[in-house]
Amino acid sequence: MRLANKTAVITGAGRGLGEAFAMKLAQEGADVLASDIDLGAAERVADAISGLGRKGLAFQADVRNKQGVQAMAAYAIQELGKVDILVNNAGTFRDNLLENISEEDWDLVLDTNLKGAFLCSQAFAPHMKARRYGKIVNISSRAFMGNVGQANYSASKGGVVSLTRTLGLELARYGINVNCVAPGLIDTDLTRRMKQEIKELMVVSTPIQRIGQPEEVANAVLFFASDEASFVVGQTLLVCGGRSVGMLLAKPKKA
Ligand SMILES: NC(=O)c1ccc[n+]([C@@H]2O[C@H](COP(=O)([O-])OP(=O)(O)OC[C@H]3O[C@@H](n4cnc5c(N)ncnc54)[C@H](O)[C@@H]3O)[C@@H](O)[C@H]2O)c1
Repeated sequence: MRLANKTAVITGAGRGLGEAFAMKLAQEGADVLASDIDLGAAERVADAISGLGRKGLAFQADVRNKQGVQAMAAYAIQELGKVDILVNNAGTFRDNLLENISEEDWDLVLDTNLKGAFLCSQAFAPHMKARRYGKIVNISSRAFMGNVGQANYSASKGGVVSLTRTLGLELARYGINVNCVAPGLIDTDLTRRMKQEIKELMVVSTPIQRIGQPEEVANAVLFFASDEASFVVGQTLLVCGGRSVGMLLAKPKKA
């Protein structure tokens, strides 16, 4: 097992990618605190982790709220004894063209996706620094490169990439590796809420010609969360079926 005797906190762990990350890290030996704004969802995941024979805990926290995030960190450190791994996964989107993005939707997306990663990293860094050990894995998106109709989401995810690089620089000397995974289109509730025609267009323009599965992103998170990535700092790994490399402009003949 690659994470034996390790402990992890994952935000937005109640479903989708966060749930897949929680299960993957637990399968590899970690005790996990599943945090989510939706307590019932976090509890369901914590129960599944306990079913694997690991310690599974649930906590309700809104990553936009500094007090709530600080309380989550205190609870995690107390109940797990230490926190080795933090996955900043909680995220949301409110897609619209520039003229139609309300200030409220701008703030919601930036506060959840970017400020949330900042607040959580800030809450756990002192503990990790004191122990001279930590892995922070941020979840960005391939959309950080730009997507029509996603000015708020792209900006937030670009911010996550920059935050990763800067925290990587600041924290590496304390034995803390900060890295980032940027997924492409993955099959979760988030993408199930997207318009079907947009999804079809995205699949057609993706070199691998399909949507990704949460497990395929979880494998990248596991790498950054493990000591296999001990000399990797401030990096963003795109897990997007080739979409960041180039876009197919016409549907190719069957391979
Ligand atoms: N699914 C994709 O295709 C895809 C692609 C690239 C990046 N991502 C990113 O991966 C992450 C997870 O996405 P997903 O597809 O699993 O989404 P999802 O909507 O299925 O799950 C998101 C989880 O985050 C929780 N959450 C939302 N706001 C929160 C808040 N303020 N505080 C705490 N928890 C909150 C939700 O309750 C939910 O459990 C997000 O950061 C998303 O931007 C997803």
